[in-house]
Amino acid sequence: MEHTPYLPQVREQYENFPYPLRNPDDEKKRLYPTTIECLDCINYYCFSGKRDFTKDFRALSAGGGTGDATIFLAEQLRDTNAEIVYIDISAASMEIAKQRAAVRHLNNIKWIQASLLDIPSLDLGVFDYINCSGVLHHLADPDAGLAILSNALKDNGAIGIMVYAQYGRTAVYQIQELMRIMTRGEPDKHKKLAICRSVLKQLPSTNWLRISAHYNPIMKAPTISDDFEIYDLFLHSQDRAYTIHQLYDFVEKAGLQTIQLFPQNDPEGMRLYDPSSYLKDSGTLDVIRHLDARSQQAVAELLHGMIAKHVFYAAKSIPTFPKLENLDYIPFLDILSNRESYLSLYEVVCKSTERVSIFNEQTQKRLSFVKTPHAEAIFKYLDGKRSTKEIFDAILASASAQKTRPSYPRLLEEFKLIFDALSVHNWLFLRDPKVHPFTSIPDMQKRVAQLYMD
Ligand SMILES: C[S@@+](CC[C@H](N)C(=O)[O-])C[C@H]1O[C@@H](n2cnc3c(N)ncnc32)[C@H](O)[C@@H]1O
Repeated sequence: MEHTPYLPQVREQYENFPYPLRNPDDEKKRLYPTTIECLDCINYYCFSGKRDFTKDFRALSAGGGTGDATIFLAEQLRDTNAEIVYIDISAASMEIAKQRAAVRHLNNIKWIQASLLDIPSLDLGVFDYINCSGVLHHLADPDAGLAILSNALKDNGAIGIMVYAQYGRTAVYQIQELMRIMTRGEPDKHKKLAICRSVLKQLPSTNWLRISAHYNPIMKAPTISDDFEIYDLFLHSQDRAYTIHQLYDFVEKAGLQTIQLFPQNDPEGMRLYDPSSYLKDSGTLDVIRHLDARSQQAVAELLHGMIAKHVFYAAKSIPTFPKLENLDYIPFLDILSNRESYLSLYEVVCKSTERVSIFNEQTQKRLSFVKTPHAEAIFKYLDGKRSTKEIFDAILASASAQKTRPSYPRLLEEFKLIFDALSVHNWLFLRDPKVHPFTSIPDMQKRVAQLYMD
């Protein structure tokens, strides 16, 4: 039998059902941001807030599929000398990704149709950032795949990974098992799809999928309209999932360390893997307090029960995160926000009395914090351009400060409270003053939309 550096049935699936289904023409209307490829987020968590992306940044999208991460990275790095390398075994997926890039007039991507297991022989050099989302769990040997990516990473580079999570996909694995039994010997993909669709419509209310659909939108399978999604979820020929402990072992085996785990549209935000999000009683919290970080995250995963994906950054060594105590750093809103967002936040804070409650309609995320005496002043001067010191100096020079006479430590204490609250959803980041401001997603999309104005 001919040896291939990929699973033939996996390649065949993605030739027939490129995933996720994307229409290149949609690029004229919107930019699809992938959670962990926002450069402000990469900069904060992986490069201590110091990476200058205008200089020689090299990114790899391994198993780039129909191009979400590739396009998003390439768009953000448009006016730099960065290179983005896309690699995938599926020609059909690559064609869609290429068309998306063409609609956006992006020419900073190198396209390669190959297996990521071929990387050692492709002479691609090393990368500052590697994206590998939803791919490693489809390999026959995920450990070998991650080891190859680790070797392709610069010593100070970082990798953003998504692999499936075990417990949150319980329902998916039950349907996969059901489909294996019901479609045994059926070679026709479309017949398998028809069986699956029909079964999904008839699931009894006791079925795990129907129960979990209540909590997790990806489980709302019977309402999923595209075949691509159904095939990927329930008829996949090769997929495995990881518990938290398995995940840490997987990462460490490849010579990497887990920097930070991320939520996927979860109301808990960055507190998703924190057991104190779920356990409120001090007695039970005391029981887990002595556990190491990964065991605490394992506890949170088991308590939550519905975490279906682990999304995280890893690197050869864990970088330090920027600290608010470094007053020269610039606090700024994430790239989903634009200039008006600073003003609307200020208005919300001004209108609030004892607590500030913020709700982002677009993402449905909410947070709240106590309105401290200088919260209004902090948001008045927070503009993504001033450093923390400049914000504090502006407050100290203002007329109202003559009455309250705040000190730097007092202002820092108040700002820390705000920063921690906004960090739950990664709305506020810090960057070194030498790092260029990041272009917001609305502004990036405006440039593309202009190409198609009549
Ligand atoms: C679920 S899709 C994810 C696509 C993309 N990363 C995303 O998140 O939108 C999995 C992709 O991995 C690709 N793939 C599977 N095995 C691969 C391998 N050995 N080398 C490169 N790509 C592979 C498939 O062709 C498919 O496009």
